[in-house]
Amino acid sequence: MKADVLLGLQWGDEGKGKVVDVLTPRYDAVARFQGGPNAGHTLEFNGTHHVLRSIPSGVFQQGQENIIGNGVVIDPILFMEEARELEQCGVDLHSVLSISRKAHLILPTHRLLDALGERLKGDARIGTTGKGIGPAYTDKVRRSGLRVGDIDNDFVAAYQRARNTHLAHLQAFGENPDIAQVEQQWLQAVDYLRQFRIIDTEFYVNNLLSQGKSLLCEGAQGTMLDVDHGSYPFVTSSSTICAGACAGLGLPPSKIGEVFGIFKAYCTRVGAGPFPTELHNDTGEQLRRIGHEYGAVTGRERRCGWIDLVALRYAIMLNGVTQLIMMKSDVLDGFDTILACDAYDIKGSITRHFPYSVENVKPVYTSLPGWRFNLTHITTEEQFPDAFKAYIHFLEEHLGVPITIVSVGPDREQTILRK
Ligand code: GDP
Ligand code: IMO
Ligand code: MG
Repeated sequence: MKADVLLGLQWGDEGKGKVVDVLTPRYDAVARFQGGPNAGHTLEFNGTHHVLRSIPSGVFQQGQENIIGNGVVIDPILFMEEARELEQCGVDLHSVLSISRKAHLILPTHRLLDALGERLKGDARIGTTGKGIGPAYTDKVRRSGLRVGDIDNDFVAAYQRARNTHLAHLQAFGENPDIAQVEQQWLQAVDYLRQFRIIDTEFYVNNLLSQGKSLLCEGAQGTMLDVDHGSYPFVTSSSTICAGACAGLGLPPSKIGEVFGIFKAYCTRVGAGPFPTELHNDTGEQLRRIGHEYGAVTGRERRCGWIDLVALRYAIMLNGVTQLIMMKSDVLDGFDTILACDAYDIKGSITRHFPYSVENVKPVYTSLPGWRFNLTHITTEEQFPDAFKAYIHFLEEHLGVPITIVSVGPDREQTILRK
């Protein structure tokens, strides 16, 4: 068997959590391969609402394995909080979750370094989630990180060495934080974490596929936040693209099957950085209000705009997307006209290719009629109004990949699988 990958094609928050939950019954296992608690994946079913941060979105479906891969960074305190909430909801997490020995740990001082980094950048700050993601990946890449597999071997001494390096750095910039309390809490959370099944996930996932079992890899963030190919430096610190699934789980590229690329019927971004189709007007405000566009983790307002096909084509290329999933179609229900950006105007020259910098591009829009129809109760494709069918057709033509799933509301049930 091959592993399928589901990942975001925009700037995150496309609705990955919802669709992973919907697709999980088709798979034997679900694995997160990058990111950490900067992610906030929302699931809604039976009138309940859950936000997952580090734990895969397959945990609510019965019987499947859930794996946190080596590419993920784990904050033990936030992990413990999340795991306990799930256990209170009746999820027997110890029996369904495995964690890679090679996943890196986020230390309390990583969060402080994240905040310091933002302060030092001033007006150029990224608007990170403040979860210590950048500093934890920095330590990984500079070969100073602590991993889950280190928890047994002289762990406290290794922790103190790393913490002292971080404190020296903070002190050099005039900060003298008192971390005694959070440190104690963190070490207790490390003890909690070590009680989970800690395994060599690279062997585990490869064996799973060899035995003919199926695996869904769940991306976090989105392609436009990828550290190499996103809107650098306004990106996250991990590889959010399909190749990240290989590195973050130990899967050979030849073992990748379907690549599900997920996008909103419009576009959002949270944090700083360029966003060509952003709307600074009533329409942007309307999208935010109707789409409840506020961060699942930080509660921050998400910036809103029309769909950007230039950026989507670029994301489809980078990931080798084989199927598209369109989310939040219902948010556009009340608009008379819908705009789609199919090209950029760069100082008078028109391009359909995503350029090195999108700082000063002007979107060139195609205007499409809205459907003025409540999509949220629709259960089959046949019930789609004509203008909505035309929107789907337009997107498929301009993106070159079929849209196989359409979401018309936040609930698990509000999902239409197309034929
Ligand atoms: P993720 O990070 O990609 O998992 O996405 P988030 O959970 O951060 O954000 C997606 C938001 O949209 C959540 O609040 C979902 O409950 C909600 N959502 C998902 N699909 C739909 C949909 O089709 N329509 C509407 N109205 N909301 C949706
Ligand atoms: P999910 O998985 C949306 C953004 C932050 C910031 C930048 C860097 O829910 O789609 P970081 O804390 O990673 O160093 O922040 O990336 N960001 C996200 N935006 N959804 C996410 O995750 C995000 N994770 C990080 O807002 O702009
Ligand atoms: Mg999110």
